[in-house]
Amino acid sequence: MKIAIIGYGKMGKEIEKLALERGHSIGIIIDKDDLNKLSPENLENIDVAIEFTTPDSAYQNIIKCFNTNIPVVCGTTGWTNKLNDVIDICEKQGKTFFYAPNYSLGVNIFFKLNTFLASIINNYPAYDVRVEETHHTQKLDAPSGTAITIADGILKNMDRKSKWVKEKAEHKDDLVIKSFREGNVPGNHKVIYESSLDKIQIEHDAKNRQGLAFGAVLAAEYILGKTGYFTMNDLLKI
Ligand SMILES: NC(=O)c1ccc[n+]([C@@H]2O[C@H](COP(=O)([O-])OP(=O)(O)OC[C@H]3O[C@@H](n4cnc5c(N)ncnc54)[C@H](O)[C@@H]3O)[C@@H](O)[C@H]2O)c1
Repeated sequence: MKIAIIGYGKMGKEIEKLALERGHSIGIIIDKDDLNKLSPENLENIDVAIEFTTPDSAYQNIIKCFNTNIPVVCGTTGWTNKLNDVIDICEKQGKTFFYAPNYSLGVNIFFKLNTFLASIINNYPAYDVRVEETHHTQKLDAPSGTAITIADGILKNMDRKSKWVKEKAEHKDDLVIKSFREGNVPGNHKVIYESSLDKIQIEHDAKNRQGLAFGAVLAAEYILGKTGYFTMNDLLKI
């Protein structure tokens, strides 16, 4: 498989290493200083693009790849107000798109556990719930895309919460997401249920970025030859 890497930062470099280890080749690497390289001529022999850039640039990059019929695996977070547009274009125009706010297998198992726990605690109103996430200081968006997915999983399963809010609850039905930015932390997420009697907590702690890069390369392998919109639930059959 010949891959275009769009965004040659921490994730782009990790993906390059893993893709080569898995026997793929890198056809082109595009970062913000060489955006003009993202052209139909340069993408001609590319099988799939893997996009990890910034919230401001992801949408444009995806559309440019779609215009050349290149399937896209995207990991950039913080742009998902436009996700439905991309899914729509993808489905109506027969393009291929894979999106995950978190490509780690462990985190996707955690998502499932989170919804199960929320559905149990829904019946026990003594518990309040909050989500906490910690990432490295260069992360641009807060809360993390992963924390938002966790919060959405709780909202779908817990009748007494109606929306997530950043940092501080104004109303009883607000679900708080607290964000911390420290050192070089690859990603830590906690869901904490607390009553006056006890505390129940589930936590996912990424040890490094390799698990994330691995999931993205697996996603690229998965969408080869397919059309439509895919997520980790398709890849992992969760
Ligand atoms: N989905 C996941 O599993 C996952 C995992 C880690 C990070 N992320 C997200 O992926 C994104 C990138 O993370 P990172 O840690 O590699 O960040 P990073 O800052 O290390 O790298 C981003 C790279 O994108 C480049 N860039 C900026 N604008 C660009 C453009 N228009 N076109 C091409 N390249 C451009 C930057 O120069 C930089 O090299 C962030 O949104 C982050 O939150 C997602």
